Amino acid sequence: MLFSLTEEQLMIQSMVREFSRKVIAPTAAERDKTKEFPSKNFKQMGELGLMGMMVPPEYGGEGADTISYVLALSEIAYSCASTSVVMSVQNSIVCESILKFGTEEQKKKFLTPLASGKIIGAFALTEPEAGSDPVSQTTTAVKDKDEYIINGTKRFITSGKNCSVVIVTAKTDEAAGHRGISAFLIPKNLKGFSVGHIEDKMGLRASDTTDLIFENCRVPAENILGKEGDGFKIAMSGLDCGRIGIAAQSLGVAEAAFDASVKYTRQRKQFGCAISKHQGIRWQIADMATQIEAARQLVLSAAAMKDRKEKFTTQASMAKLFASEMVNQITARAIQLHGGYGFTKDYDVERYYRDARVFTIYEGTSEIQRIVISNNILKDKRNP
Ligand code: CAA
Repeated sequence: MLFSLTEEQLMIQSMVREFSRKVIAPTAAERDKTKEFPSKNFKQMGELGLMGMMVPPEYGGEGADTISYVLALSEIAYSCASTSVVMSVQNSIVCESILKFGTEEQKKKFLTPLASGKIIGAFALTEPEAGSDPVSQTTTAVKDKDEYIINGTKRFITSGKNCSVVIVTAKTDEAAGHRGISAFLIPKNLKGFSVGHIEDKMGLRASDTTDLIFENCRVPAENILGKEGDGFKIAMSGLDCGRIGIAAQSLGVAEAAFDASVKYTRQRKQFGCAISKHQGIRWQIADMATQIEAARQLVLSAAAMKDRKEKFTTQASMAKLFASEMVNQITARAIQLHGGYGFTKDYDVERYYRDARVFTIYEGTSEIQRIVISNNILKDKRNP
């Protein structure tokens, strides 16, 4: 392995692995059926410091580095992808954005309960007609003395139903393009703020994905995150970290599908021996292991760049692009290796396949990652 992990990183990995396999895994298949949000698990994860891992202890977090965070997130994803997406959004786009752009007051009021896992947070950028192109969003925020009046609908919001506070982007200046978008910290209990349609999804079924509706919702002006016009930058920089999270989540699900496949091919007998003895199967196992290892190196490398405070936008997109495509290939192969059994709900690979499908879509599609990567290469004057 290229990366040598520190003792502390290895300790966090092993602690989360034990917790994840003992507490999260046994109920994951049931949660997939019932769609029950695992509130109790998040409470425990909060106590273990997993809901604000990179937030300093003075704001209720763990003060861990990004490498520890991706190791922990992969371990949770290994057992339950629905649980890991909530952990990912909370840690990266929500907590990191408040830590980076919030005032001292906002950190005390919102970041501390979020990072300690007492409340769940969400991030609302996407709208019915604005997904890959968030600048075309139509939610508005109009200043009225010491308040902003928010109107609009957000779509596909992870934890929309179960969260207590949301970072919401809205237009404060229609004519200013991306510089006319601002971000607001909006508590759930404000008048004029309601949860709309709840999606019935193919995967990640225990994580709620909802519309959020704002009808003349009055938000105190002090709840603006950053300055007026900073919203797009806040969203993009939050997504940089978020994309490392989705890559780590992809890695965890791929490892689970791979381990299940190795176990099954050792046990399943056809043509007089375990199918793992057949060369056609062995080559698939070798290819899967190689793809997973390549993704791991990209995820750790992007996380290490963030920890070194280097610009990591391109590497985060590369990690997200590669790892999310990889896990879709791995989970499809895992089903193939399980044959007819892989197509039934008796085997976890069926759930892994459905859960992984959205990874190439949310927090920026694979096509968007390619735009980010190529834009950054082509605008860099150092490149020939
Ligand atoms: N960090 C900080 N600022 C950034 C940035 C970054 N990574 N990337 C861009 N910016 C800034 C630029 O500096 C620029 O600002 P100035 O003009 O003031 O200098 C501004 O943003 C515009 O930059 P670009 O011209 O490069 O942006 P663009 O418009 O060409 O491209 C895009 C933008 C990459 C296509 C972007 O719109 C994008 O990422 N789209 C996908 C959105 C997305 O990922 N949506 C997923 C929703 S979240 C989700 O899935 C929720 C969930 O719950 C899981």
